[in-house]
Amino acid sequence: MTGIGFDLLATDGRARRGRVTTAHGTIETPAFMPVGTAATVKAMTTDAVASTGAEILLGNTYHLMLRPTAERVAQLGGLHRFMNWDKPILTDSGGFQVMSLSDLRTMSEEGVTFKSHLDGSRHHLTPERSIQIQHMLDSNITMCLDECTPFPATEAQAESSMRLSMRWARRSKDAFVERPGYGLFGIVQGGIYPEQRAESVAALTDIGFDGYAIGGLAVGEGQETMFRVLDFTEPLMVKDRPRYLMGVGRPSDLIGAVRRGVDMFDCVMPTRSGRTGQAFVRRGTINIRNARHAHDERPLDSECGCPACRSYSRGYLHHLFKADEMLGPMLLTWHNLHYYQDLMRTMRQAIADGNFEEVAGAMEARLNEGDI
Ligand code: GUN
Ligand code: ZN
Repeated sequence: MTGIGFDLLATDGRARRGRVTTAHGTIETPAFMPVGTAATVKAMTTDAVASTGAEILLGNTYHLMLRPTAERVAQLGGLHRFMNWDKPILTDSGGFQVMSLSDLRTMSEEGVTFKSHLDGSRHHLTPERSIQIQHMLDSNITMCLDECTPFPATEAQAESSMRLSMRWARRSKDAFVERPGYGLFGIVQGGIYPEQRAESVAALTDIGFDGYAIGGLAVGEGQETMFRVLDFTEPLMVKDRPRYLMGVGRPSDLIGAVRRGVDMFDCVMPTRSGRTGQAFVRRGTINIRNARHAHDERPLDSECGCPACRSYSRGYLHHLFKADEMLGPMLLTWHNLHYYQDLMRTMRQAIADGNFEEVAGAMEARLNEGDI
């Protein structure tokens, strides 16, 4: 195997059922990647994460380069060993997190200089350094350093930002050391503009990557606009490589994006909102802190097989959150990740069975019913 493998197993409309092969194992797609920013999926052991069906985690260059540093992770055997996760890992390149988290950023052709949100120390991130850090982490899927074009942006702004990302993509590819079972993904930018997205796809395809991410979405443009961007971008992308929609999303976003040909996703939604008491259920979302759950004997979701739903009532989970007990965030995170993996499993099966529209439409209708 050179790079990472991708087998397209079935299609149904534009929806795709596939398999990504890496040095640390395979990933059935469409796939959802839980976010393990600081070498941990917050509130979960890796055994618990694996038990939900997750086959790949996302790690973050930005956080790990600041603490404990890439050098320390490498010294302790790489990210898989460090965090006790022997399945595949994808790492984001840091550009997006610099923009959203750090202080005092300065962008140049060379890269980005920023102050750490932890201690104010100064750091420099270039395409070459980002790739080198991701190698030190031993990431299976390395992401190019890019600039996530903010929303809103004029077409001229989106164009110059996208072109910078394309020059950085070239430098990222040149810095990437190819090894069997390890791959590099390019990131399509271009805002909401068809011509910019088309130029970006062409530039990346020309360089040649193991997979292609779609960046710059879920940044405030709204679901309808995001779907419109996917509608004009996806048909331009090569069919024989995985497509990864970065930072997305809610269950309805995942269904709509799989319908539009996306294979991979990551989002903090299930983990972050689980810690604050929001649970994703077949009929939408519930906030377990709400008083209406205090005396409820039912599980969060009667169709869920996770430990929170198998063993505990909504009333108990409500109590844990009211009492600030740490088991509350743990159980809701577990449930939400289980729910997201169930959703992906259901979509994979539907594509294989050739009834994706029927199944997806029924799930969308239930999401809109609301919890009762
Ligand atoms: N995460 C969410 N969106 C983006 C993006 O556009 N670029 C990168 N690198 N990460 C992201
Ligand atoms: Zn559950």
